[in-house]
Amino acid sequence: MTDRTVGFIGGGRVTRILLGGFQRAGALPRRIVVSDTDAVVLDDLRGRFPGIETVGADVSAPAGAGLVFGALHPPDLGPALPEIRRHLRPESIFISLAPKLTLAALAAGLAGFARVVRLIPNAASILCAGFNPISLSPAVAGEERAGLLRWFAALGDAPEVPEEELEAYAILTAMGPTYFWYQFQELAEVGCSFGLRREAVEQALPRMLEGAVRTYFSSGLTPDQVMDLIPVKPLEAAEGQVREVYRTKLAALHEKLKS
Ligand SMILES: NC(=O)c1ccc[n+]([C@@H]2O[C@H](COP(=O)([O-])OP(=O)(O)OC[C@H]3O[C@@H](n4cnc5c(N)ncnc54)[C@H](OP(=O)(O)O)[C@@H]3O)[C@@H](O)[C@H]2O)c1
Repeated sequence: MTDRTVGFIGGGRVTRILLGGFQRAGALPRRIVVSDTDAVVLDDLRGRFPGIETVGADVSAPAGAGLVFGALHPPDLGPALPEIRRHLRPESIFISLAPKLTLAALAAGLAGFARVVRLIPNAASILCAGFNPISLSPAVAGEERAGLLRWFAALGDAPEVPEEELEAYAILTAMGPTYFWYQFQELAEVGCSFGLRREAVEQALPRMLEGAVRTYFSSGLTPDQVMDLIPVKPLEAAEGQVREVYRTKLAALHEKLKS
């Protein structure tokens, strides 16, 4: 795949994540063209990846690439599809990174162009430690399909999943880090405020978190048995509220993405 020209329509966060991961893996395509309506976003991206070409808001160059990423939010992607279609080549593959728009909706928006793929990236792809579920239309087959999956495997796990599950993964694995990262930050700051050196905190917390994950998912104990291992829970008073927020907010978001 690295010998193909790759176009990104949208040069924001997810594009930065994917390029960062491919760069780290030594799997950056030779030619990368990025469009975005925001010149500041493009300048920032070029600062990080000096080898890329940026082309302002004009989608013609990225949409004319071999692999064309739709890195836009769902409300922007749908309206952008007809203009993208004008520049797609018969051998192009269009890869949407957005939830909500199905493979069928993408193909319809692209006036019947069937070589479409959906990938829901996870931010840890920037470290090649992502979990990036993917669904491909049957029109992307054989060695081309295998090559695409191998390329995405450079960013971490890229399991093929039923398309109707992608919105659930968007909430679990794409947005999932946001449920925890601010808590890591708060805990690190609290640790430093207790007089621990930052390096000590940054050694201790990842080990604690990795161990907590392994104990929860891999110890063979039930969730209740795991949570009963520690009798003192200083944040227990907030737990009910947090559980309620998970159930209501995430269920509502899932509903919205599936509607
Ligand atoms: N970030 C993640 O971790 C992640 C993970 C999985 C999936 N995704 C998906 O990836 C998509 C993009 O997300 P993001 O995080 O990269 O968002 P983002 O950082 O906001 O980037 C989107 C960029 O697209 C620009 N844009 C809007 N309309 C455009 C158009 N017609 N042509 C070219 N550029 C246009 C936006 O400019 P303005 O700000 O000026 O509108 C913005 O710079 C979304 O569908 C999101 O759900 C993101």
